[in-house]
Amino acid sequence: MGKSNGKNGRPQKIGILTAGGDCPGINAAIRGVGKTAIVKYGMQVIGISDGYAGLINKEYRELTESDLSGILTLGGTILGTSREKPFKGSGKKKDELRKPLLIKEHYEQIGLDCLVCIGGNGTMKTANMLSEEGLNVVGIPKTIDNDIWGTDMTFGFDSAVNIATEAIDRLHSTANSHKRIMVIELMGHNAGWLALYSGMAGGGDVILIPEIPHDEKVVMDYLRKRADNNKPYSIVVVAEGVAIPEGEESPARYLARRIQEETGLETRETVLGYIQRGGSPSPMDRVLASRFGAAAANLIAKSEFGRMVAQRNGEISSVKLSEVGGKTKLVSKDDPMVRQAREMGTCFGD
Ligand code: F6P
Repeated sequence: MGKSNGKNGRPQKIGILTAGGDCPGINAAIRGVGKTAIVKYGMQVIGISDGYAGLINKEYRELTESDLSGILTLGGTILGTSREKPFKGSGKKKDELRKPLLIKEHYEQIGLDCLVCIGGNGTMKTANMLSEEGLNVVGIPKTIDNDIWGTDMTFGFDSAVNIATEAIDRLHSTANSHKRIMVIELMGHNAGWLALYSGMAGGGDVILIPEIPHDEKVVMDYLRKRADNNKPYSIVVVAEGVAIPEGEESPARYLARRIQEETGLETRETVLGYIQRGGSPSPMDRVLASRFGAAAANLIAKSEFGRMVAQRNGEISSVKLSEVGGKTKLVSKDDPMVRQAREMGTCFGD
């Protein structure tokens, strides 16, 4: 392990797994790695089922070129996924944990020369730990949250922005007809990228994200002022990671109730939920996922392991997994998008 052991010193057999929450574009990435590995390099491709759980349970199948046909536009992942974290153990030392040992054993038994891990932050952290344990690993970043350190963009994000923006667009007309405040809650985990981009694209009047703590009074005053200025309705976009009092279920539900209580303006909430990560990827995500997949196969062919493919300043490149693992890319308070939205009068509640 830890070296390329295929013929001519080049890896011959690669495994692919998809872990963490699914998102549009995963199948395009599987296709990108798989087709490049088979067509360009003549490698054998193994699909591991259900993320790291598949390596623990030794559940896998070969992916031929024909298995990879017709999946570019499919949502979800043909390999299945899970949130299995093999290094999570009750205070045990890394080398005493049973699951990483099983993963190493099965990697050897299947005869893999490299493992491609497609996933988000948690997946990259585990990928780095496996790489430190001596496995040849390459990471591909995916998530609708766009919160992976080391890459400007993850695939899945553009599709989710499209879906969320369409939802906001649709709320505009019903909000206008009823002269209501509409609060829409978007995913994003602890990051506000999805709310910021969709809020901007959908013309949200208020955008609340976890990175910019808000004062409820500022939000209420802003909404009252809009109503006083003959703006009969308002759209409030709130990220799921925004802080709310303990015991409250969801930011949208909580805020909608508070807005109606405080301002007397009729308010409704929408929690968009899993629709944001289902279905077919956008053209931009298909392109990014395919490029990431091909870049991963190229790294493997050069035996450049322990790296995650990335997009930096528009170019496809890669970063060390050890630099990525355990970090999160958050929105900065001076992000140009935040500044621009503020200059157009958008309220961030601060
Ligand atoms: O990371 C993607 C994501 O969809 C987040 O936006 C959300 O917080 C989380 O996954 C939901 O996770 P689960 O699939 O475990 O409910």
